[in-house]
Amino acid sequence: MAEPRPQPALGIVDLHCHLLPGVDDGAADLEQALAMARRAVAEGICTAVTTPHTWDGRYEVGHESADAAFAALRAAVESEGLPLQLKLAAENRLDRRLLEAANAGRVRTLGDSAWVLVELPPRVMPPRLEQSLFALRTAGLRPVLAHPERYPGFRGKGGLRRLKALADGGTLMQLTGEAFLGSGARRRRVRRLLEAGLCHLVASDAHGIQQRPPCARAVYRALCRFGDEGLAARLMRENPARILADQQPLPVGLERSWWRRVRGLWT
Ligand SMILES: [Fe+2]
Repeated sequence: MAEPRPQPALGIVDLHCHLLPGVDDGAADLEQALAMARRAVAEGICTAVTTPHTWDGRYEVGHESADAAFAALRAAVESEGLPLQLKLAAENRLDRRLLEAANAGRVRTLGDSAWVLVELPPRVMPPRLEQSLFALRTAGLRPVLAHPERYPGFRGKGGLRRLKALADGGTLMQLTGEAFLGSGARRRRVRRLLEAGLCHLVASDAHGIQQRPPCARAVYRALCRFGDEGLAARLMRENPARILADQQPLPVGLERSWWRRVRGLWT
């Protein structure tokens, strides 16, 4: 049988994934976490920031259990010699508890930066969304909003205007790589966000091997088709690396497709 062709190294920096074993709805155990780590390497990911849910109504992952799971994963990855740099952060539900933790200096940020990954309740917008993000900034943190394409409250022109106002106020938008694949409404949504300048980085939000795997190569190719390789590299490599280094991301632009310009669906 022919040897598989070596894949080019893409140097992708994945700022959002659930690789930690046995703590949330990501990798169920160390074996699955290692399988995800191997897949991440095969997908061209060189740095994976593990982001367990702090609390989301179903899971509650304290610092101690995250530390223990991270140590076990890192030891296993090192003993297998996988070329994958691991970092520990968190996916933080934006609520009163997060603001209390922020004021107490107990929030896990992305790398050693002030950037913090936040998620919202899945269906209902928090009543004081803008004020909460502002309070985070007042506490010295800079929010990165995970998967804004998922929330019904950001759909339509009103939702988009609201998202734009958040970005103008300093919140970064992390879109999910898998959403750029396929051909459904989700893909159209992320394309619109990209065209509106409302995508600062793309991450996998990987949860397993069968479902929601770390599928970086196909996403990178899809972004190359949307724009060019510079766009893919900026969203999956350069901007995530800048965030880890506590820098502002570089601007991302994508021209509207011709049919959208003609139909005037965008303002
Ligand atoms: Fe997540």
